[in-house]
Amino acid sequence: MQIRLDKFLADAGIGTRSEVKSIIKRKAVTINGACAAKPEIKISPETDEIAVNGTIVAMRGSVTYLLHKPAGYVCAVKDDRFPTVMELVPQNRDLFPVGRLDKDTEGLLLITNDGGMAHRMLSPRSHVDKTYLAVLGRPAEEAYADLFSVGVDIGDDTPTLPAGLVICDDGSRECEYLPEEYRTYAGSGRVALLTIQEGRYHQVKRMFHAVGNEVIYLKRLSFGALVLPLPLKKGEAILCDPQIN
Ligand code: URA
Repeated sequence: MQIRLDKFLADAGIGTRSEVKSIIKRKAVTINGACAAKPEIKISPETDEIAVNGTIVAMRGSVTYLLHKPAGYVCAVKDDRFPTVMELVPQNRDLFPVGRLDKDTEGLLLITNDGGMAHRMLSPRSHVDKTYLAVLGRPAEEAYADLFSVGVDIGDDTPTLPAGLVICDDGSRECEYLPEEYRTYAGSGRVALLTIQEGRYHQVKRMFHAVGNEVIYLKRLSFGALVLPLPLKKGEAILCDPQIN
């Protein structure tokens, strides 16, 4: 299989396609020890040795797991105090979590060794939808949907991007994702689905806080086109194909 040098480097997470083009122009990339002149040059990832600033870029068969993250685990490769999500997937493939969920948040988390894919999924420019199921401290008010649809001030430099809010009634399919202790909350106005296109720190909790409510339970149900399979138990991971996004 032959692919363009710039695509190979972007897929390996070295940078965006335009960033790697300028890295190549700066003559920082070598193919089998010889300086690579053009981004469009074709390489064989399995046999050619590609290096950036002298460091070999490994071609790895990319692998992505879809994990049902349980509460209590941190999204980091290493942590001195808490268990990490890396303990829940095979350990030998240079994997890392695609973005972060808070320690107490559950739900869909991708773990991969595909830097290019992670960059595409997380880039603020990509506007990838993420849907969260939230149990609130008190019933949601109808005004929230309008407020979230234009963006709210959560204390950052800019308001949040428009986000979609649906208050779940007790027949909502998504309520099946609720843990036993919150099942009775369905239909009380305290269970909501929020879809955001950003990934700011504690974003969902801060958005509800900004409208005078609080999140007491949070689970991510989807990331782009990938949906948390209902039968997947907490702590379990399956291989998945993030290219469907
Ligand atoms: N928003 C939050 O507040 N927490 C998460 O873990 C994810 C999104």
